[in-house]
Amino acid sequence: MVADPSPRLKPVESGLTDAVFRVRGLAKTYGAGEVQVRALHDVDLDVARGEFIVLLGPSGSGKSTLLNILGGLDVPSAGVIHFHGQELTNATDTELTTYRREHVGFVFQFYNLIPSLTVRENVALVTDIVANPMPVDEAIDMVGLTPRRDHFPAQLSGGEQQRVAIARAIVKRPDLLLCDEPTGALDYQTGKLVLEVIAKVNRDLGTTAIVITHNAAIADMADRVVVLGDGCIQRVQANTHKRSPSELSW
Ligand SMILES: Nc1ncnc2c1ncn2[C@@H]1O[C@H](COP(=O)(O)OP(=O)(O)O)[C@@H](O)[C@H]1O
Ligand SMILES: [Mg+2]
Repeated sequence: MVADPSPRLKPVESGLTDAVFRVRGLAKTYGAGEVQVRALHDVDLDVARGEFIVLLGPSGSGKSTLLNILGGLDVPSAGVIHFHGQELTNATDTELTTYRREHVGFVFQFYNLIPSLTVRENVALVTDIVANPMPVDEAIDMVGLTPRRDHFPAQLSGGEQQRVAIARAIVKRPDLLLCDEPTGALDYQTGKLVLEVIAKVNRDLGTTAIVITHNAAIADMADRVVVLGDGCIQRVQANTHKRSPSELSW
């Protein structure tokens, strides 16, 4: 029997919610026996389409674990996640791979660009495996790197390399942009430029964005700030006046 090359998540309870994510009772425990680490517990969260969420919390509070589970890179130990009304927590490995490929753009602290390829080539790599990619030059323009598109990663600054990573994440037109400390290796000013680009993607393409940061100063650019501590949500703060990073004074 030949496996379906692109199995989709099975629709359940259609019309359940227009939320991108509906998360209930999410928990993640790593390890076994006496070395168990409870990384997440009792997490309930709804994420609306087009929302910009900043995830704050001290090191070890479960931020990456939550982001990785939402992005289909890791699976929870308990709880349920619906993605557009479809249950993600039932998905097989193959379905999760399809989910990541079709719906999720990831940006990490380190850029993971291929050194021997130019900016255009790094971004173009992704377009072979998705159904409806954006033109490569459009993605590069979106992150402000058109003049550098024929350069190699080593010829770019850290902030520019991170913008290439963002172009690579958005060229497949993902529903979600998940960023784990995208400015962690950058100075404040450069980090601010990178955050501007993420805010612009969220605003202009309507991509739902969840961004982890250690820096509470960027919280004002979000629709909501979700604060994690000891593996659960400590508080959620909605911003009535969302500001662009350039308006922030840090
Ligand atoms: N693969 C893993 N195996 C064991 N423990 C892990 C693993 N990943 C994360 N943890 C633990 O889970 C907790 C939450 O980690 P993490 O989600 O990375 O936190 P944060 O991103 O907020 O710093 C930490 O105590 C961490 O050590
Ligand atoms: Mg982390």
